[in-house]
Amino acid sequence: MNIAVIGTGYVGLVTGTCFAETGNMVTCVDIDEEKVKTLSSGKVTIYEPGLEKIFERNQKEGRLRFTTSLSEGIWEARIVFLALPTPQGEDGSADLQYVLSVAENIGKFLRPDDYKVIVDKSTVPVGTAERVRDTILGLLKSRNLEHPENLFDVVSNPEFLREGVAVEDFMKPNRVIIGTSTERPRKILGQLYAPFVRQGNPIIYMDERSAELTKYAANAFLATKISFMNEIAQLCEKLNADVDMVRKGMGSDDRIGRRFLFSGIGYGGSCFPKDVKALTKSAQGVNYDFKILEAVLDVNEIQKQHLVPKVLSYFGGKLEGKTVALWGLAFKPNTDDIREAPALRIIEALEQSGAQVCAYDPEAMGNVQKQMGDRIRYADNQYDALDGADALVIATEWSEFRTPDFNRMKSLMKNCAIFDGRNLFELAQMEEIGFHYESIGRKAVRN
Ligand SMILES: NC(=O)c1ccc[n+]([C@@H]2O[C@H](COP(=O)([O-])OP(=O)(O)OC[C@H]3O[C@@H](n4cnc5c(N)ncnc54)[C@H](O)[C@@H]3O)[C@@H](O)[C@H]2O)c1
Repeated sequence: MNIAVIGTGYVGLVTGTCFAETGNMVTCVDIDEEKVKTLSSGKVTIYEPGLEKIFERNQKEGRLRFTTSLSEGIWEARIVFLALPTPQGEDGSADLQYVLSVAENIGKFLRPDDYKVIVDKSTVPVGTAERVRDTILGLLKSRNLEHPENLFDVVSNPEFLREGVAVEDFMKPNRVIIGTSTERPRKILGQLYAPFVRQGNPIIYMDERSAELTKYAANAFLATKISFMNEIAQLCEKLNADVDMVRKGMGSDDRIGRRFLFSGIGYGGSCFPKDVKALTKSAQGVNYDFKILEAVLDVNEIQKQHLVPKVLSYFGGKLEGKTVALWGLAFKPNTDDIREAPALRIIEALEQSGAQVCAYDPEAMGNVQKQMGDRIRYADNQYDALDGADALVIATEWSEFRTPDFNRMKSLMKNCAIFDGRNLFELAQMEEIGFHYESIGRKAVRN
């Protein structure tokens, strides 16, 4: 099948590459000329495990092309995916300007006798499929085309991939949601997705509005789990209990499940923060006060500011002249994405208190440097970051941070204190090795 993917970021690039991998001819469109140039020259623009290999293979086979021209991109396509940004607008709701402006342009380029399925893959509020449809239809009518409503359908197909395991998630999705009220696109998308659900995971068909809400409901529920566990962690610290024990005890109940129960320094990333806000805003728009989500947002803010006060209190309220090493900048491991990363807030807070920060992240340092410049020092590796440090703060749970050489750390650090936002180490081990160690929802090891 001929496919166009509009927007070649974290979702669009993975989507385009994975559809090419099952034999489709894919054209990816992006307005960012630099990005298109880099991709066309054979280089991937994001770090995503496993992506580079299939990207190279499909580009070589001629199944994956890149262009800045929307008209060229959609010319031969039967299916046009919109993988465009839907950032948080000023009032907290999702900003649809990118999606609607592309819809308008699609309306300019659709041809008579050339039916296309337009698919919203971006996370968009309920009613967006109708708005996209109305926008395109308006344009077609202004062009005086006959039976414009037969030239296209708009489908909601929200994306559930997780950065860091995006290729795996896309190739073997837990489920595919297809929101459409008409038969024709249902068949076309069913065929397209068939190779991805061969093991029996479902394609769930529903109406457009339910599909749009499903995505927000899923993200909001996951964010709620995080904030809930972060509140349990706060309570553990006050009651002298251990959140990791509580988590294990809770998670062994099938109705709760073991996954996604880790407490930490609050959720970040390109999705949860904006999606929880957008859903709260959507609810307000229909006079519904979504109380749980308001609390989820509040708790997350509190949790993001939980770690640095521990550092401050350890140093008697002052960090002037102190050097703090920071392990992890990406909002989670296995990605270079730093959108709303807790580490950035930690850097700001440490700097405001007078500390010098020396950071290391296996993949995200380039992106942080683009945003923050050389305000902080960037280390060559995790040990280099510790050279002469008064404390180590851990913000992202990259695997390589999990079993470090503690003796080497001790020999490099001026003062052996770790403030761990991801609970990577056992308390008993820290006691034995002799580090001062503070984590989340567990008692402090004071050395
Ligand atoms: N990142 C994720 O993990 C994830 C997961 C599921 C859903 N989503 C949703 O998918 C959507 C895209 O997210 P993303 O993380 O890929 O965003 P992104 O910012 O990484 O990528 C968006 C791309 O669209 C391009 N673009 C902007 N305007 C354009 C235009 N007019 N024409 C062509 N290209 C244009 C940008 O240059 C950019 O490359 C969002 O709605 C997001 O909420 C994201």
